[in-house]
Amino acid sequence: MKVLVCGGAGYIGSNMTALLAREGHEPIVFDNLSKGHRAAVPEAEFVQGDFGDLDFTVETLKKYDIEAVMHFAAFIEVGESVAEPLRYYENNVSKTRTLLEAMGKAGVDKFVFSSTAAVYGMPETFPITEDLVKAPINPYGETKWAVERMLHFLSESEQVRYAALRYFNACGAGSNGTRGEDHRPESHLIPLIIQAAMGKRDNIKIFGTDYPTDDGTCVRDYIHIEDLCKAHLLALKKLDAERELYYNLGNGKGYSVRQVIDTVKRVSGKDFTVVETDRRPGDPPVLTADASKAHKELGWTTDFPELEPIVESAWKFHTDNPNGYAD
Ligand code: UFG
Repeated sequence: MKVLVCGGAGYIGSNMTALLAREGHEPIVFDNLSKGHRAAVPEAEFVQGDFGDLDFTVETLKKYDIEAVMHFAAFIEVGESVAEPLRYYENNVSKTRTLLEAMGKAGVDKFVFSSTAAVYGMPETFPITEDLVKAPINPYGETKWAVERMLHFLSESEQVRYAALRYFNACGAGSNGTRGEDHRPESHLIPLIIQAAMGKRDNIKIFGTDYPTDDGTCVRDYIHIEDLCKAHLLALKKLDAERELYYNLGNGKGYSVRQVIDTVKRVSGKDFTVVETDRRPGDPPVLTADASKAHKELGWTTDFPELEPIVESAWKFHTDNPNGYAD
């Protein structure tokens, strides 16, 4: 299938592009390179452009006879979204609306959307099932939920067939440790701890030690990037028969910030300074997934159910590429 991978030069998009190619599909990377790296997708067909540009997006969809769109080109930082909500609404909602309009004009109706656990806000029961109330507590989660609602109404009027995949904490490196996280600036826990282990930063800060969890630090459900990408392929296939799909994607097992730090220490064999600081605004104490719906309906299985091999893959990427991608 010819798939436009919007945001295909980013962390998740580049891993998806590699998997699509390995599975015999034809990915076309569509990216404005504001965050992504051309070097992350060296072999892929590449179009530099912006999904907020209606005419160019229609032209690209038509030129490559695109049959489905996978959309990874969102802003993803919770803290930044709290500080600059309008940027998040513009990029994540307004421009996604334009992308969907472009698909309509080009006659493309299959859409796989990167959603997030942040749509649930501060849930009171764990693990989280898809039917729980959606009550985002930050603009990032709210913008993702706004797009899910837009997709729901478009699917009801038969203008789109979509799968919304609610990621928990994507991490690790795919393609044998060659495609990893390279956000600039970095804000995600595992790469930051690895930077501390590599001596690239003085310490790792724990944001909050007074949460109502076993060791007082936040608990997250870490899911390997390739397991995440596998679910996209299964969802895309299921869109042949279905119009509206939504799934949690996580391992169902939570690790605290302290446990993640200990795992990086074990994998790297390095010691480094850990500093306990205040909570970061917008962080829920616990986010763990009940992904049984994806297992049952998609036949999804994970190859990395434990944290340590996930961290090993990330450690390989960062030590092989100490300065990130070349561009
Ligand atoms: N953390 C620290 N120190 C740091 C960085 C992070 O203690 O230097 C903590 C955070 O407070 C949080 C945990 O580590 O408790 C994980 O933080 P990340 O920033 O790595 O990830 P988030 O859980 O905030 O968010 C991630 C993605 C979102 C997605 C969410 C879904 O960035 O896009 O997972 O669970 F919505």
